[in-house]
Amino acid sequence: MKPSKGLVLSLVPIFLALYRVAAKPKRSLKVPRTEERVLVVGASSGIGRSVARQYAERGARVCIVGRRESLLKEVEAECRAARSSAGFGGGSLSDIFGVTADFTNVDDMVEVRNVIETAWGGLDTHVIAAGVSALQPLMAVAGVEVERGVTLKDASAQGIQNTTDIALAAIKGNYIGPLIAAVTFVPMLTNTSKAPSIVLVNSLASIIPAPTRTLYASTKASSLVLYQALSIEHPAIKFTFFMPSTVEGDFRASAVDSGPVREKDPNAHGLKREDVARRCIQAADNGEKAVFMPETMRYAHLLYWIAPSFIERMASRKYNFSI
Ligand SMILES: NC(=O)c1ccc[n+]([C@@H]2O[C@H](COP(=O)([O-])OP(=O)(O)OC[C@H]3O[C@@H](n4cnc5c(N)ncnc54)[C@H](OP(=O)(O)O)[C@@H]3O)[C@@H](O)[C@H]2O)c1
Repeated sequence: MKPSKGLVLSLVPIFLALYRVAAKPKRSLKVPRTEERVLVVGASSGIGRSVARQYAERGARVCIVGRRESLLKEVEAECRAARSSAGFGGGSLSDIFGVTADFTNVDDMVEVRNVIETAWGGLDTHVIAAGVSALQPLMAVAGVEVERGVTLKDASAQGIQNTTDIALAAIKGNYIGPLIAAVTFVPMLTNTSKAPSIVLVNSLASIIPAPTRTLYASTKASSLVLYQALSIEHPAIKFTFFMPSTVEGDFRASAVDSGPVREKDPNAHGLKREDVARRCIQAADNGEKAVFMPETMRYAHLLYWIAPSFIERMASRKYNFSI
């Protein structure tokens, strides 16, 4: 008897889950944890900060990058303390250090590369956690009120210009930054590491459309696809695309459109930063490609293609959006 198409399809998630469980972590054999050279861009707060501290805790050498120098100093001290209490000593100046840099600035990132070259002579793991949020519906950015049953006014030239300026800021923070980070470090990773890894901290918003996330999601999606294609061009590097749902913290304060937060309080309902960081590191260790958090979202996003209106309703509910 031939198995039905439905049965075969329903077995796919089970096979994928088994495949992931069976896949053994191999990277640590090539790059021992205490020798791993890790660069975390966007380490002054949030997920990147926790990733940096957790790497330090297991004895890695860590370079932390962000624009806020005073916070980087705090993170540096945090990493040294974590390293020390885990029994690896506080680390020398070249084991844990911060570089104040803007990842959308070419000269800044070349300087980060020079400092790493001098300190370590190479790099094993590059975590890109930096990014900016945007929180308003697109037409609100353009100054157009949208109400059910009310004729829409044309956006003014000023409104269209404002939308363009805000979109450019989102593109800079969510696409150009990751682009510069990749172009700057792909050769160094390839040439100097026995098992190079790039972890792009992206977002579930890149693959599940949501109202009020037009600019955020589309700019995050652009860097996701950039890295997905890049990973085919550079098979020697293990790429991880990390896609969490809402995470606790102050990310929304970085909104380039300074819009209101509409979803339930991320600090009460979001994923925990420490859990997200732990999963990021685990994924880099295992060389996992696409990581969803929560894991169920691996399948939930496919639903959009099967039942888009269901996903749209859920997304509208999440972001408290109605029209
Ligand atoms: N929070 C969430 O709900 C959530 C959900 C899904 C995905 N994500 C993604 O997770 C990543 C981290 O978010 P988070 O929650 O940790 O937010 P966060 O606390 O605001 O951290 C963002 C980090 O990026 C750095 N950064 C931003 N622009 C930068 C620039 N131009 N150059 C260098 N560093 C820059 C910030 O440091 P400086 O300001 O000091 O430069 C900060 O360290 C983002 O890419 C975001 O898209 C977040």
